[in-house]
Amino acid sequence: MSYARTGLRMILQALGLKPGDEVVLSPLTCKVVPLALLSLDVRPVYADISRETLNLDPESVEEAICARTKAILFQHTYGSSTGIEAVANLASRHGIPLIEDCAQCLPSGSGGPGTHGIAAVFSNNLRKPLPAGAGGIAVVSEDWLAAELVKARDTLRVRGGLSRLFLRVEAAAHKYLLKPETYWSLLGLKKRFGVFYRSCPLEAEIRKEIMDSAFQISRHQVRAGLMWIDALDELRSVRRQHVRTLAIELSHMPSYEIPEIDSDAALYYFPILSKSKERLLRAAEAKRIELIAWPVDLPIYPVEDPKDLERYAYKSGCCPQAEEVARSLIGIPTDQLTTARHRERALALLREHETVCQDSVD
Ligand SMILES: Cc1ncc(COP(=O)(O)O)c(C=O)c1O
Repeated sequence: MSYARTGLRMILQALGLKPGDEVVLSPLTCKVVPLALLSLDVRPVYADISRETLNLDPESVEEAICARTKAILFQHTYGSSTGIEAVANLASRHGIPLIEDCAQCLPSGSGGPGTHGIAAVFSNNLRKPLPAGAGGIAVVSEDWLAAELVKARDTLRVRGGLSRLFLRVEAAAHKYLLKPETYWSLLGLKKRFGVFYRSCPLEAEIRKEIMDSAFQISRHQVRAGLMWIDALDELRSVRRQHVRTLAIELSHMPSYEIPEIDSDAALYYFPILSKSKERLLRAAEAKRIELIAWPVDLPIYPVEDPKDLERYAYKSGCCPQAEEVARSLIGIPTDQLTTARHRERALALLREHETVCQDSVD
């Protein structure tokens, strides 16, 4: 289907969720996730994350569960699965379906992301680890659920010619323009002109981001998708190599906190926590070094004004760990466009900044 969010909505419908039902999820997420829930009048209930794993904290999930809880959504933040077993056990103990949000993951087969719950969604939009021509994939572990999803998929609209052309132009622009050096300029343009970053009333936002963007994937997307799937081993190996090197290099920089990640994972970005996120990002932008602020500095991406959190049913202060992490989380790229030289430039900036931070403490 057109996006992971479309798959998530279809899974919730197939599981029989009704208005007033609740789904427990991480607040360190993208706004389209709560919007998919709200499009069904399902209530997002945020459980706090663990600062160590960046993923849902099982104790907080347990506290959030009540009779109205009809699913738990486990997000593999930055592609890291740390902590999923505990949440999967909890879900099974309570008899609540576990859905995995693998939007930031590369598929990796048995035991990997997407294999712990009854269903999972992967995102293939152009900034994701498997940018398979824009789209999303739903993975399920039960035949009846697969049959329901196929039925739902077949009712989605087919893209018109203009929309297909737009996808191709977007993919070409992505292929030829997006490089680590152009990251900040393109982000600036997207923030200025992209509707995704523009605030509007909730109903209109649900229509724009969820309802109007639900399509079947086109033949071109299927072809592009299959090409990317052929390159999966190579994509995984590049990311793993970056992750291993970054883990070693960053272990010598004590001013950055490194979450518990599997150092063999093919992460979306390598996560670090820094007390001077804003300063570091400004320095990266000035030197055209790609470092990401996901989320910006409040839990739900791309929210920048605390007042906007409420529209996604998030109450400021309800998940203190997630709020603290959002203020300090930075991602270092690990993708196939990032060369060893790009990685060294990012590390040099982090080293230099570490000295600056220590000097300002002394
Ligand atoms: C954690 C997370 N979940 C879900 C999504 C939604 O993916 P898609 O854009 O394919 O709907 C995104 C991406 O934007 C994401 O980062």
